[in-house]
Amino acid sequence: MSILDEIDIDNTPSHIAIIMDGNGRWAKKQGHNRLFGHNFGVESVREVLQAAQKTNVKYLTLYAFSTENWNRPKEEVDGLMDLLVRTIGNEVAELHKSNVKISTIGDIEGLPDSCGKELSEAYEKTKNNTGVNLVLALNYSSRWELTNAAKNLALKVESGDIKVSNIDETSIISELNTSNIPDPELLIRTSGEYRVSNFLLWQIAYSEFHFTDVLWPDFKANDLYEAILDYQSRERRFGMVSEQIDKNS
Ligand code: IPE
Ligand code: IPE
Ligand code: MG
Repeated sequence: MSILDEIDIDNTPSHIAIIMDGNGRWAKKQGHNRLFGHNFGVESVREVLQAAQKTNVKYLTLYAFSTENWNRPKEEVDGLMDLLVRTIGNEVAELHKSNVKISTIGDIEGLPDSCGKELSEAYEKTKNNTGVNLVLALNYSSRWELTNAAKNLALKVESGDIKVSNIDETSIISELNTSNIPDPELLIRTSGEYRVSNFLLWQIAYSEFHFTDVLWPDFKANDLYEAILDYQSRERRFGMVSEQIDKNS
């Protein structure tokens, strides 16, 4: 029996978000530069997406480049942007064939024009697909997203479109980049780090966290299935007590 068969398919998270970390350390262990690790990380993305397609996962959000990652050495940032353009260009036809719908969260206008162009083509080509939604977090940080949400709501109050007294959680959610995406039930971080690094702070309010020491380029289908099994072993109480949770629901 493969580990995939152990998964309760009716209880898979519909949205999994992943902080793909550890490419640099993986490359260093092999005696290569950091970009070598990023290149290998793409293979893990391909595998994890295929694995997700074998479960009931509908949204896979991948943290690929944070706002803070601009602070890395120029050579690495340039290499990452180049890899992004090449990867989207190379993969989009295959992703389209497997019915994947591509979207992004983050400040896409702040990326080089070549990235924006590849991404627009990818959205356009895959927009009617009905399979897994692949959400790439690029030039993303949660504080950036929440700051924009606050500004947009303030503008709507200023222009008289809404009243302060009408602002509620729904109005905030509608200003987030993820307004059309359900919150992730499961957040995975690889590479043995136990932090959130400015990712989806609002959206992970009730997510289950799965941390693994595996470095991202080594993270493969079975690692995803293990994370899902770990998720399925949790009791999600949402503030209630155990007795109130209907185990059969
Ligand atoms: C994650 O791997 C990829 C990005 C942040 C773009 P890292 O590059 O952070 O790898 P480590 O954490 O230095 O090993
Ligand atoms: C988080 O990883 C961002 C991405 C995976 C894109 P980092 O490696 O940048 O996070 P820190 O710096 O260790 O918190
Ligand atoms: Mg890192």
